Amino acid sequence: MSYILGIETSCDETAAAVVQDGRIVLSNIVYSQIPIHRQFGGVVPEVASRKHVEVIRRVVETALAESEIQAHELAGIAVTQGPGLVGPLLVGLSFAKAYSYGLGLPLLGVHHLDGHICANYLAFPDLEPPFLALIVSGGHSHFYHVKDYGEYQLLGGTRDDALGEAFDKVARMLDLPYPGGPEVEKLALSGQDVYAFPMAMLEEDSLDFSFSGMKSAIRNHLHKHPATDLKDRADIAHSFQERAFDVVEQKIKRAIKQTGANTLVIAGGVAANQRLRDRLNHLPVDLRFPPLKYCTDNAAMIASSGYYMLQNGKHSPLTLNAKPNLSLHSCG
Ligand code: KG4
Ligand code: ZN
Repeated sequence: MSYILGIETSCDETAAAVVQDGRIVLSNIVYSQIPIHRQFGGVVPEVASRKHVEVIRRVVETALAESEIQAHELAGIAVTQGPGLVGPLLVGLSFAKAYSYGLGLPLLGVHHLDGHICANYLAFPDLEPPFLALIVSGGHSHFYHVKDYGEYQLLGGTRDDALGEAFDKVARMLDLPYPGGPEVEKLALSGQDVYAFPMAMLEEDSLDFSFSGMKSAIRNHLHKHPATDLKDRADIAHSFQERAFDVVEQKIKRAIKQTGANTLVIAGGVAANQRLRDRLNHLPVDLRFPPLKYCTDNAAMIASSGYYMLQNGKHSPLTLNAKPNLSLHSCG
């Protein structure tokens, strides 16, 4: 049995978890800073870093206690190396380095997106690569061909605003609180599909995404017709969500056609959106969405990723540094 302690601090969640053999979650602690950042309308990196420093020890100790695994039974310490906010990343990384040095355990520098994909291994014991993955989070709208554990080919990605970022920006325009994604989803429930906001499908065969045109169209619309009542705002939220998911659905169909993939894994914060789940359900593919608690940032997914890194005979040096723009091919 191999137990990995995972640590995640790339944004505004301080998280720690213990996972057995990359698949079985023994504990999964997430301390969310959302109430703190809500008053600023978004994540303030310096405030996030300070809060991580304040709570990380307690979060890790709680994860270990809940797992009933002793620190000396661990096989490694997995930690998010990037991408993310540099200050927050450094807090988790410094803590993980000290812990791994003190216990004489391998340090496993994990790519945050690899973690999001591994979230599905926690939920689906039968899931094995190869498969097609779409990551839709605050920083990414990326298609990957997952060839094997930790082996990726990028098929298309964000050219400007990522999908979650577009949700957050539209939410701000509609005076909704941070984080915007779930708020837009909630408001959209009482709205109707009345606006044909522009959808960028880009070139015929492209699997890249662009949501900035749609976002700007909504901003221009609001300048001309300020949404004064709840009904107007709900219609805008609803129409934005439908147009954004029209693009996602078309791109997924394109990706399935191009790759011939039988299995599609959706990961990242936007995968928590129920409307997206409902809209994609009919696709002729074995579709996997992680349960909600593994869609948004957590450390169980980081521990799973670290497990497969160790299985592949890899670990990271203690000189490992935080990389805010880390690409999926250069981790550890
Ligand atoms: O994966 P995640 O927790 O953090 C990053 O790695 O970015 O994703 C956060 C993003 C935010 O942009 C948030 O607004 C979006 O995911 N999000 C949603 C929903 N829940 C979270 N977007 C749409 N609908 C949701 N229910
Ligand atoms: Zn994330």
